[in-house]
Amino acid sequence: MREQVLLRRAQAPALDLAAYAASGGLAGLARARAIGREEVCRIVGESGLLGRGGAGFPTGRKWESVRGAAERERYFVLNADESEPGTFKDRVMLETDPFMVLEGLLIGCYAVGAGRAYVYVRGEYRAAAELLGRCLGELEAAGHLAGLGPEGGPLEVELRLGGGAYICGEETALFRSIEGYRGEPMSKPPFPTVAGLFRRPTAIDNVETVANVPDIVRHGPQWLRGYGTERSPGVKLYSVSGHTSRPGVYELPFGAPLAELLALAGAEDLQAVLLGGAAGTFLFPQDFDMPLSYEGAQERGATLGSGALIAFDRDANLWRVAERLGRFFAHESCGQCVPCRVGTRRQHEMLEALAEGRGLGDERELLLELAEVMTDASICGLGHTAAVAVRSLIEAEGRGLLAG
Ligand SMILES: Cc1cc2nc3c(=O)[nH]c(=O)nc-3n(C[C@H](O)[C@H](O)[C@H](O)COP(=O)(O)O)c2cc1C
Ligand code: SF4
Repeated sequence: MREQVLLRRAQAPALDLAAYAASGGLAGLARARAIGREEVCRIVGESGLLGRGGAGFPTGRKWESVRGAAERERYFVLNADESEPGTFKDRVMLETDPFMVLEGLLIGCYAVGAGRAYVYVRGEYRAAAELLGRCLGELEAAGHLAGLGPEGGPLEVELRLGGGAYICGEETALFRSIEGYRGEPMSKPPFPTVAGLFRRPTAIDNVETVANVPDIVRHGPQWLRGYGTERSPGVKLYSVSGHTSRPGVYELPFGAPLAELLALAGAEDLQAVLLGGAAGTFLFPQDFDMPLSYEGAQERGATLGSGALIAFDRDANLWRVAERLGRFFAHESCGQCVPCRVGTRRQHEMLEALAEGRGLGDERELLLELAEVMTDASICGLGHTAAVAVRSLIEAEGRGLLAG
Protein backbone atom coordinates (compact mmCIF):
# COMPACT_ATOMS: atom_id res chain seq x y z
CA MET A 1 0.00 0.00 0.00
CA ARG A 2 1.39 3.39 -1.02
CA GLU A 3 1.69 6.21 1.49
CA GLN A 4 -1.52 8.23 1.60
CA VAL A 5 -1.08 12.00 1.63
CA LEU A 6 -4.40 13.71 0.91
CA LEU A 7 -6.40 10.76 2.21
CA ARG A 8 -4.28 10.18 5.30
CA ARG A 9 -7.12 11.08 7.66
CA ALA A 10 -9.80 9.30 5.59
CA GLN A 11 -9.99 6.23 7.81
CA ALA A 12 -10.21 8.27 11.03
CA PRO A 13 -11.49 11.73 10.02
CA ALA A 14 -10.63 14.68 12.27
CA LEU A 15 -14.05 16.33 12.30
CA ASP A 16 -13.51 18.81 15.13
CA LEU A 17 -10.87 21.48 15.39
CA ALA A 18 -9.12 20.00 18.42
CA ALA A 19 -8.70 16.62 16.71
CA TYR A 20 -7.49 18.33 13.54
CA ALA A 21 -4.90 20.41 15.41
CA ALA A 22 -3.77 17.32 17.34
CA SER A 23 -3.10 15.53 14.04
CA GLY A 24 -0.79 18.28 12.79
CA GLY A 25 -3.45 20.59 11.35
CA LEU A 26 -3.17 24.41 11.31
CA ALA A 27 0.66 24.36 11.17
CA GLY A 28 0.53 25.50 7.52
CA LEU A 29 -1.69 28.48 8.38
CA ALA A 30 0.58 29.46 11.29
CA ARG A 31 3.62 29.34 9.00
CA ALA A 32 1.80 31.34 6.31
CA ARG A 33 1.11 34.13 8.82
CA ALA A 34 4.75 34.06 9.90
CA ILE A 35 6.32 34.25 6.42
CA GLY A 36 3.87 36.65 4.73
CA ARG A 37 1.75 36.68 1.58
CA GLU A 38 4.52 37.09 -0.97
CA GLU A 39 6.50 34.16 0.39
CA VAL A 40 3.40 31.93 0.46
CA CYS A 41 2.78 32.65 -3.23
CA ARG A 42 6.43 31.97 -4.00
CA ILE A 43 6.39 28.62 -2.18
CA VAL A 44 3.18 27.46 -3.84
CA GLY A 45 4.57 28.52 -7.23
CA GLU A 46 7.89 26.76 -6.68
CA SER A 47 6.15 23.56 -5.54
CA GLY A 48 4.79 23.17 -9.06
CA LEU A 49 1.21 22.61 -7.80
CA LEU A 50 -1.18 22.30 -10.77
CA GLY A 51 -4.94 22.82 -10.47
CA ARG A 52 -6.85 19.57 -9.95
CA GLY A 53 -10.20 20.83 -11.31
CA GLY A 54 -9.39 19.63 -14.82
CA ALA A 55 -7.28 22.22 -16.61
CA GLY A 56 -4.01 21.70 -14.67
CA PHE A 57 -3.13 25.41 -14.54
CA PRO A 58 -0.24 26.36 -12.18
CA THR A 59 -1.84 27.50 -8.90
CA GLY A 60 1.09 29.71 -7.84
CA ARG A 61 0.93 31.70 -11.07
CA LYS A 62 -2.78 32.33 -10.54
CA TRP A 63 -2.26 33.45 -6.93
CA GLU A 64 0.68 35.68 -7.81
CA SER A 65 -1.37 37.43 -10.44
CA VAL A 66 -4.22 38.19 -7.99
CA ARG A 67 -1.80 39.20 -5.25
CA GLY A 68 -0.15 41.70 -7.60
CA ALA A 69 -3.43 43.24 -8.82
CA ALA A 70 -3.87 46.99 -8.40
CA GLU A 71 -7.46 46.69 -7.07
CA ARG A 72 -7.79 46.16 -3.33
CA GLU A 73 -11.17 44.40 -3.62
CA ARG A 74 -10.29 40.80 -4.39
CA TYR A 75 -11.98 37.44 -3.96
CA PHE A 76 -11.12 33.83 -3.42
CA VAL A 77 -13.55 31.09 -4.53
CA LEU A 78 -13.42 27.43 -3.62
CA ASN A 79 -14.93 25.38 -6.44
CA ALA A 80 -16.71 22.42 -4.84
CA ASP A 81 -19.42 22.12 -7.50
CA GLU A 82 -18.24 18.70 -8.75
CA SER A 83 -21.02 17.74 -11.14
CA GLU A 84 -19.31 15.72 -13.89
CA PRO A 85 -20.56 12.14 -14.27
CA GLY A 86 -18.24 9.71 -12.48
CA THR A 87 -16.56 12.40 -10.36
CA PHE A 88 -16.86 12.27 -6.58
CA LYS A 89 -13.34 12.73 -5.17
CA ASP A 90 -14.01 16.27 -3.90
CA ARG A 91 -17.00 15.03 -1.90
CA VAL A 92 -14.82 12.40 -0.22
CA MET A 93 -12.12 15.01 0.45
CA LEU A 94 -14.68 17.40 1.97
CA GLU A 95 -16.37 14.77 4.10
CA THR A 96 -13.20 13.11 5.38
CA ASP A 97 -10.86 16.08 5.85
CA PRO A 98 -12.91 19.31 5.81
CA PHE A 99 -10.43 21.23 7.98
CA MET A 100 -7.50 20.53 5.65
CA VAL A 101 -9.52 21.91 2.72
CA LEU A 102 -10.56 24.97 4.75
CA GLU A 103 -7.02 25.54 6.00
CA GLY A 104 -5.87 25.55 2.37
CA LEU A 105 -8.63 28.02 1.55
CA LEU A 106 -7.65 30.37 4.40
CA ILE A 107 -4.00 30.26 3.33
CA GLY A 108 -5.08 31.03 -0.24
CA CYS A 109 -7.18 34.01 0.87
CA TYR A 110 -4.29 35.35 2.90
CA ALA A 111 -1.80 34.80 0.05
CA VAL A 112 -3.80 36.75 -2.54
CA GLY A 113 -5.07 39.40 -0.10
CA ALA A 114 -8.76 38.54 -0.47
CA GLY A 115 -11.14 40.05 2.06
CA ARG A 116 -14.00 37.77 1.13
CA ALA A 117 -14.21 34.16 0.06
CA TYR A 118 -17.00 31.97 -1.25
CA VAL A 119 -17.23 28.22 -0.86
CA TYR A 120 -19.47 27.03 -3.72
CA VAL A 121 -20.66 23.51 -2.90
CA ARG A 122 -22.68 21.31 -5.24
CA GLY A 123 -26.33 21.67 -4.21
CA GLU A 124 -26.79 17.92 -3.73
CA TYR A 125 -23.81 17.70 -1.33
CA ARG A 126 -25.93 18.58 1.71
CA ALA A 127 -23.88 16.55 4.19
CA ALA A 128 -20.61 18.10 2.99
CA ALA A 129 -22.11 21.60 3.08
CA GLU A 130 -23.40 21.17 6.62
CA LEU A 131 -20.06 19.82 7.76
CA LEU A 132 -18.18 22.69 6.11
CA GLY A 133 -20.51 25.22 7.74
CA ARG A 134 -19.88 23.76 11.16
CA CYS A 135 -16.10 23.57 10.62
CA LEU A 136 -15.97 27.15 9.36
CA GLY A 137 -17.85 28.23 12.49
CA GLU A 138 -15.28 26.47 14.68
CA LEU A 139 -12.37 28.08 12.83
CA GLU A 140 -13.93 31.53 13.14
CA ALA A 141 -14.81 31.11 16.82
CA ALA A 142 -11.21 30.08 17.54
CA GLY A 143 -9.94 33.26 15.84
CA HIS A 144 -8.33 31.64 12.81
CA LEU A 145 -9.94 34.03 10.32
CA ALA A 146 -8.81 37.14 12.19
CA GLY A 147 -6.26 39.31 10.44
CA LEU A 148 -6.16 37.25 7.25
CA GLY A 149 -7.84 39.92 5.11
CA PRO A 150 -6.04 42.74 3.29
CA GLU A 151 -3.76 44.82 5.51
CA GLY A 152 -4.53 42.70 8.54
CA GLY A 153 -8.29 43.26 8.24
CA PRO A 154 -10.97 40.61 8.67
CA LEU A 155 -11.71 37.79 6.28
CA GLU A 156 -15.30 36.76 5.63
CA VAL A 157 -16.14 33.34 4.24
CA GLU A 158 -19.59 32.58 2.83
CA LEU A 159 -20.97 29.18 1.93
CA ARG A 160 -23.15 28.89 -1.19
CA LEU A 161 -25.07 25.91 -2.49
CA GLY A 162 -24.65 25.27 -6.23
CA GLY A 163 -27.38 25.96 -8.76
CA GLY A 164 -27.83 22.32 -9.78
CA ALA A 165 -26.22 22.54 -13.22
CA TYR A 166 -22.94 21.12 -14.49
CA ILE A 167 -22.14 24.43 -16.16
CA CYS A 168 -22.13 26.20 -12.77
CA GLY A 169 -18.75 24.50 -12.12
CA GLU A 170 -17.21 26.47 -14.99
CA GLU A 171 -15.48 29.37 -13.29
CA THR A 172 -17.16 32.32 -15.00
CA ALA A 173 -20.62 30.68 -14.81
CA LEU A 174 -19.96 30.02 -11.12
CA PHE A 175 -19.22 33.72 -10.59
CA ARG A 176 -22.52 34.63 -12.29
CA SER A 177 -24.32 32.15 -10.08
CA ILE A 178 -22.83 33.66 -6.90
CA GLU A 179 -23.76 37.13 -8.17
CA GLY A 180 -27.38 36.01 -8.42
CA TYR A 181 -27.66 35.58 -12.20
CA ARG A 182 -28.18 32.47 -14.34
CA GLY A 183 -25.04 30.35 -14.38
CA GLU A 184 -23.89 31.21 -17.91
CA PRO A 185 -20.20 31.40 -18.88
CA MET A 186 -18.60 34.59 -20.06
CA SER A 187 -15.99 34.89 -22.80
CA LYS A 188 -12.35 34.89 -21.68
CA PRO A 189 -10.27 37.08 -21.64
CA PRO A 190 -10.55 38.86 -19.29
CA PHE A 191 -9.47 35.98 -17.05
CA PRO A 192 -10.72 35.68 -13.45
CA THR A 193 -7.40 36.85 -12.04
CA VAL A 194 -8.06 40.21 -13.73
CA ALA A 195 -11.88 40.46 -13.73
CA GLY A 196 -13.56 37.57 -11.96
CA LEU A 197 -16.28 37.65 -9.30
CA PHE A 198 -18.03 41.06 -9.37
CA ARG A 199 -15.45 41.86 -12.12
CA ARG A 200 -12.71 42.02 -9.49
CA PRO A 201 -9.44 40.00 -9.37
CA THR A 202 -10.35 36.50 -8.22
CA ALA A 203 -8.51 33.28 -7.46
CA ILE A 204 -10.69 30.21 -8.00
CA ASP A 205 -9.43 26.79 -7.03
CA ASN A 206 -10.65 23.23 -6.85
CA VAL A 207 -11.11 21.42 -3.51
CA GLU A 208 -8.29 18.92 -4.13
CA THR A 209 -5.95 21.72 -5.22
CA VAL A 210 -6.29 23.67 -1.97
CA ALA A 211 -6.10 20.48 0.13
CA ASN A 212 -2.41 20.29 -0.92
CA VAL A 213 -1.63 23.81 0.28
CA PRO A 214 -1.26 23.40 4.09
CA ASP A 215 1.46 20.76 3.68
CA ILE A 216 3.24 22.70 0.93
CA VAL A 217 3.41 25.85 3.06
CA ARG A 218 4.34 23.92 6.20
CA HIS A 219 7.11 21.80 4.65
CA GLY A 220 8.30 24.02 1.77
CA PRO A 221 8.11 23.67 -2.02
CA GLN A 222 10.32 20.56 -2.21
CA TRP A 223 7.82 18.57 -0.16
CA LEU A 224 5.35 18.27 -3.05
CA ARG A 225 8.17 17.44 -5.44
CA GLY A 226 8.96 14.43 -3.24
CA TYR A 227 5.95 12.78 -4.90
CA GLY A 228 5.10 12.30 -8.55
CA THR A 229 7.09 13.34 -11.61
CA GLU A 230 9.05 16.46 -12.50
CA ARG A 231 6.24 17.92 -14.62
CA SER A 232 3.42 16.59 -12.42
CA PRO A 233 4.54 16.93 -8.80
CA GLY A 234 2.43 15.48 -6.00
CA VAL A 235 -0.35 12.94 -5.69
CA LYS A 236 -3.71 12.68 -7.43
CA LEU A 237 -7.16 11.51 -6.37
CA TYR A 238 -9.17 9.33 -8.75
CA SER A 239 -12.91 8.62 -8.66
CA VAL A 240 -13.29 5.07 -9.98
CA SER A 241 -16.67 3.62 -10.97
CA GLY A 242 -18.28 1.30 -13.51
CA HIS A 243 -17.39 -2.37 -13.88
CA THR A 244 -15.10 -2.71 -10.87
CA SER A 245 -15.50 -4.74 -7.70
CA ARG A 246 -14.11 -1.95 -5.48
CA PRO A 247 -15.38 1.41 -6.80
CA GLY A 248 -14.28 4.42 -4.79
CA VAL A 249 -11.74 7.20 -4.44
CA TYR A 250 -8.06 6.25 -4.69
CA GLU A 251 -4.87 8.25 -4.25
CA LEU A 252 -1.67 7.62 -6.19
CA PRO A 253 1.46 9.67 -6.82
CA PHE A 254 1.58 11.08 -10.35
CA GLY A 255 3.43 8.72 -12.66
CA ALA A 256 1.95 5.50 -11.23
CA PRO A 257 0.68 3.26 -14.04
CA LEU A 258 -3.00 3.16 -14.92
CA ALA A 259 -2.86 -0.63 -14.36
CA GLU A 260 -2.09 -0.02 -10.68
CA LEU A 261 -5.22 2.08 -10.24
CA LEU A 262 -7.31 -0.59 -11.99
CA ALA A 263 -5.86 -3.30 -9.74
CA LEU A 264 -6.62 -1.24 -6.62
CA ALA A 265 -10.23 -0.81 -7.71
CA GLY A 266 -10.64 -4.45 -8.69
CA ALA A 267 -11.25 -3.68 -12.36
CA GLU A 268 -10.33 -6.78 -14.36
CA ASP A 269 -10.77 -8.11 -17.87
CA LEU A 270 -11.91 -4.77 -19.23
CA GLN A 271 -12.79 -3.72 -22.72
CA ALA A 272 -11.92 -0.07 -22.02
CA VAL A 273 -11.95 2.77 -19.53
CA LEU A 274 -13.14 6.33 -19.94
CA LEU A 275 -10.46 8.46 -18.30
CA GLY A 276 -11.03 12.14 -17.52
CA GLY A 277 -14.81 12.23 -17.08
CA ALA A 278 -17.53 12.92 -19.64
CA ALA A 279 -15.06 15.02 -21.61
CA GLY A 280 -12.36 12.35 -21.32
CA THR A 281 -10.97 9.75 -23.69
CA PHE A 282 -11.52 6.01 -24.04
CA LEU A 283 -8.40 3.96 -23.34
CA PHE A 284 -7.99 0.28 -24.19
CA PRO A 285 -5.87 -2.49 -22.60
CA GLN A 286 -2.77 -1.71 -24.68
CA ASP A 287 -2.69 1.70 -22.94
CA PHE A 288 -3.08 0.40 -19.39
CA ASP A 289 0.69 0.77 -18.87
CA MET A 290 0.25 4.54 -19.30
CA PRO A 291 1.79 6.62 -16.49
CA LEU A 292 -0.93 8.65 -14.77
CA SER A 293 0.58 12.13 -15.08
CA TYR A 294 -0.35 15.18 -17.12
CA GLU A 295 2.49 14.51 -19.57
CA GLY A 296 1.93 10.73 -19.61
CA ALA A 297 -1.71 11.21 -20.59
CA GLN A 298 -0.85 13.86 -23.15
CA GLU A 299 1.62 11.53 -24.89
CA ARG A 300 -1.22 9.06 -25.50
CA GLY A 301 -3.64 11.76 -26.65
CA ALA A 302 -5.57 11.37 -23.39
CA THR A 303 -6.39 13.64 -20.46
CA LEU A 304 -6.58 13.10 -16.71
CA GLY A 305 -9.31 15.74 -16.38
CA SER A 306 -10.27 15.89 -12.74
CA GLY A 307 -9.39 12.21 -12.24
CA ALA A 308 -12.63 10.37 -13.07
CA LEU A 309 -12.29 6.84 -14.40
CA ILE A 310 -15.24 4.71 -15.54
CA ALA A 311 -14.47 1.06 -16.34
CA PHE A 312 -16.29 -1.00 -19.00
CA ASP A 313 -16.25 -4.77 -19.34
CA ARG A 314 -16.27 -6.68 -22.63
CA ASP A 315 -20.07 -6.74 -22.83
CA ALA A 316 -20.45 -2.96 -22.65
CA ASN A 317 -21.75 -1.23 -25.77
CA LEU A 318 -19.46 1.78 -25.98
CA TRP A 319 -21.71 3.49 -28.53
CA ARG A 320 -24.47 3.35 -25.94
CA VAL A 321 -22.05 4.89 -23.44
CA ALA A 322 -21.23 7.65 -25.94
CA GLU A 323 -24.96 8.23 -26.45
CA ARG A 324 -25.40 8.75 -22.69
CA LEU A 325 -22.51 11.21 -22.66
CA GLY A 326 -24.03 12.99 -25.66
CA ARG A 327 -27.34 13.25 -23.83
CA PHE A 328 -25.57 14.70 -20.80
CA PHE A 329 -23.87 17.44 -22.83
CA ALA A 330 -27.04 18.31 -24.78
CA HIS A 331 -28.92 18.59 -21.48
CA GLU A 332 -26.22 20.60 -19.71
CA SER A 333 -25.39 23.05 -22.53
CA CYS A 334 -26.49 26.46 -21.26
CA GLY A 335 -27.70 27.31 -24.76
CA GLN A 336 -25.93 30.63 -24.95
CA CYS A 337 -23.91 29.95 -28.11
CA VAL A 338 -25.06 28.21 -31.29
CA PRO A 339 -22.19 25.75 -31.94
CA CYS A 340 -22.74 24.16 -28.55
CA ARG A 341 -26.52 24.56 -28.23
CA VAL A 342 -27.25 23.06 -31.65
CA GLY A 343 -24.09 20.97 -31.92
CA THR A 344 -24.60 18.98 -28.72
CA ARG A 345 -28.18 18.15 -29.81
CA ARG A 346 -27.20 17.05 -33.32
CA GLN A 347 -24.33 15.07 -31.78
CA HIS A 348 -26.73 13.31 -29.42
CA GLU A 349 -29.16 12.45 -32.23
CA MET A 350 -26.41 10.83 -34.29
CA LEU A 351 -25.03 8.94 -31.29
CA GLU A 352 -28.52 7.66 -30.53
CA ALA A 353 -28.83 6.37 -34.10
CA LEU A 354 -25.44 4.64 -33.87
CA ALA A 355 -26.22 3.09 -30.48
CA GLU A 356 -29.49 1.72 -31.83
CA GLY A 357 -27.90 0.43 -35.03
CA ARG A 358 -30.02 2.66 -37.28
CA GLY A 359 -27.29 4.95 -38.59
CA LEU A 360 -27.32 5.99 -42.26
CA GLY A 361 -23.59 5.46 -42.71
CA ASP A 362 -22.25 9.01 -42.71
CA GLU A 363 -22.61 9.71 -38.96
CA ARG A 364 -18.94 9.22 -38.07
CA GLU A 365 -17.81 11.73 -40.68
CA LEU A 366 -20.47 14.24 -39.61
CA LEU A 367 -19.62 13.74 -35.92
CA LEU A 368 -15.97 14.55 -36.61
CA GLU A 369 -16.94 17.67 -38.55
CA LEU A 370 -19.27 18.75 -35.76
CA ALA A 371 -16.53 18.11 -33.21
CA GLU A 372 -14.27 20.54 -35.04
CA VAL A 373 -16.94 23.27 -35.11
CA MET A 374 -17.85 22.86 -31.43
CA THR A 375 -14.20 22.83 -30.37
CA ASP A 376 -13.31 25.91 -32.40
CA ALA A 377 -16.39 28.09 -32.08
CA SER A 378 -17.93 27.52 -28.63
CA ILE A 379 -17.60 30.07 -25.84
CA CYS A 380 -16.56 27.78 -22.99
CA GLY A 381 -14.98 24.50 -22.01
CA LEU A 382 -18.24 22.55 -22.16
CA GLY A 383 -18.60 23.13 -25.89
CA HIS A 384 -14.84 22.80 -26.44
CA THR A 385 -14.77 19.31 -24.94
CA ALA A 386 -18.27 17.89 -25.62
CA ALA A 387 -16.94 15.79 -28.51
CA VAL A 388 -13.65 14.58 -27.04
CA ALA A 389 -14.93 11.15 -25.95
CA VAL A 390 -16.84 10.65 -29.23
CA ARG A 391 -13.75 11.46 -31.28
CA SER A 392 -11.66 8.99 -29.29
CA LEU A 393 -14.32 6.28 -29.76
CA ILE A 394 -14.44 6.78 -33.53
CA GLU A 395 -10.67 6.56 -33.66
CA ALA A 396 -10.62 3.39 -31.52
CA GLU A 397 -13.28 1.78 -33.69
CA GLY A 398 -11.17 2.53 -36.74
CA ARG A 399 -8.28 0.69 -35.08
CA GLY A 400 -10.51 -2.34 -34.40
CA LEU A 401 -10.36 -1.96 -30.60
CA LEU A 402 -14.07 -2.25 -29.76
CA ALA A 403 -15.35 -5.61 -28.56
CA GLY A 404 -17.89 -7.43 -30.78
C1 LIG B 1 -18.27 22.77 -17.90
C2 LIG B 1 -17.23 22.90 -16.86
C3 LIG B 1 -17.48 22.43 -15.56
C4 LIG B 1 -16.51 22.54 -14.57
N1 LIG B 1 -16.78 22.05 -13.33
C5 LIG B 1 -15.84 22.15 -12.36
C6 LIG B 1 -16.10 21.65 -11.04
O1 LIG B 1 -17.19 21.13 -10.75
N2 LIG B 1 -15.11 21.78 -10.12
C7 LIG B 1 -13.89 22.36 -10.42
O2 LIG B 1 -13.03 22.47 -9.55
N3 LIG B 1 -13.63 22.82 -11.64
C8 LIG B 1 -14.57 22.74 -12.62
N4 LIG B 1 -14.31 23.26 -13.85
C9 LIG B 1 -13.03 23.98 -14.05
C10 LIG B 1 -13.13 25.43 -13.54
O3 LIG B 1 -13.62 26.23 -14.59
C11 LIG B 1 -11.77 25.97 -13.10
O4 LIG B 1 -10.84 25.74 -14.11
C12 LIG B 1 -11.27 25.38 -11.80
O5 LIG B 1 -12.19 25.56 -10.75
C13 LIG B 1 -9.95 26.00 -11.40
O6 LIG B 1 -9.44 25.39 -10.24
P1 LIG B 1 -8.04 24.61 -10.26
O7 LIG B 1 -7.05 25.51 -10.92
O8 LIG B 1 -7.76 24.34 -8.85
O9 LIG B 1 -8.27 23.36 -11.06
C14 LIG B 1 -15.26 23.13 -14.87
C15 LIG B 1 -15.00 23.59 -16.17
C16 LIG B 1 -15.96 23.46 -17.14
C17 LIG B 1 -15.65 23.96 -18.52
S1 SF4 C 1 -20.18 26.41 -25.02
FE1 SF4 C 1 -22.21 25.59 -24.40
S2 SF4 C 1 -22.22 25.71 -22.18
FE2 SF4 C 1 -20.55 27.02 -22.91
S3 SF4 C 1 -21.47 29.07 -23.16
FE3 SF4 C 1 -21.71 28.08 -25.12
S4 SF4 C 1 -23.74 27.10 -25.00
FE4 SF4 C 1 -23.16 27.58 -22.91
